[in-house]
Amino acid sequence: MRLTVFVSGRGSNLKSILDYFNLNNKVEIKLIVTDNSLCKALDIAKQNNIPFYCIDKKNSEQGFEYLIELLKNEKVELIVLAGFLKLLSSSFVSNFKQRIINIHPALLPAFGGEGMYGINVHKAVFQSGDKISGATIHFVDETYDTGNIIAQEKVDISECKTPEEIAAKVLTIEHQLLPKVINDIVDGKIVIGN
Ligand code: GAR
Repeated sequence: MRLTVFVSGRGSNLKSILDYFNLNNKVEIKLIVTDNSLCKALDIAKQNNIPFYCIDKKNSEQGFEYLIELLKNEKVELIVLAGFLKLLSSSFVSNFKQRIINIHPALLPAFGGEGMYGINVHKAVFQSGDKISGATIHFVDETYDTGNIIAQEKVDISECKTPEEIAAKVLTIEHQLLPKVINDIVDGKIVIGN
């Protein structure tokens, strides 16, 4: 299956996908897309000789239009948002209906929405006093974190003393869940694009 992965930061979820599918040609990452040309995830793209494209923040609408053409020409079937923090254009979303998935570091619908990314999510979870958190994979629609949920994995955070400890526990779960969901999509156990 031909994939694109969108990233904004450190890229550990991108790495988990590359590691999982290493030496097996089930998935091919055709392109890495970012809105942050300085992000660490681009080093991973370069190390693995994967082409990348940076969306210009001042002309993001044009960037998304360009990507629609490019990804269609490349016959990309699945778009994975792995720590990508920019809202996609509605035109981009409607061109790839049910073909864009996102990983979120909490149990949606709780702790989602605009501004809820990275450590902000874990701070909110910590302040809530919840003893369980987790990761969610969902289809992407025009708003933040509201698309249909595909999979969730829970983790016990009752022993966590800081938001950073929660983040570390959830990240471990993310690195297992995201490649597994992609694998299930490739195997047809999870249906996309309908
Ligand atoms: C991950 O924890 C991901 O779930 C989160 O950003 C982190 C990216 O880490 N995404 C969001 O918060 C989206 N709302 P990574 O760059 O190391 O994969």
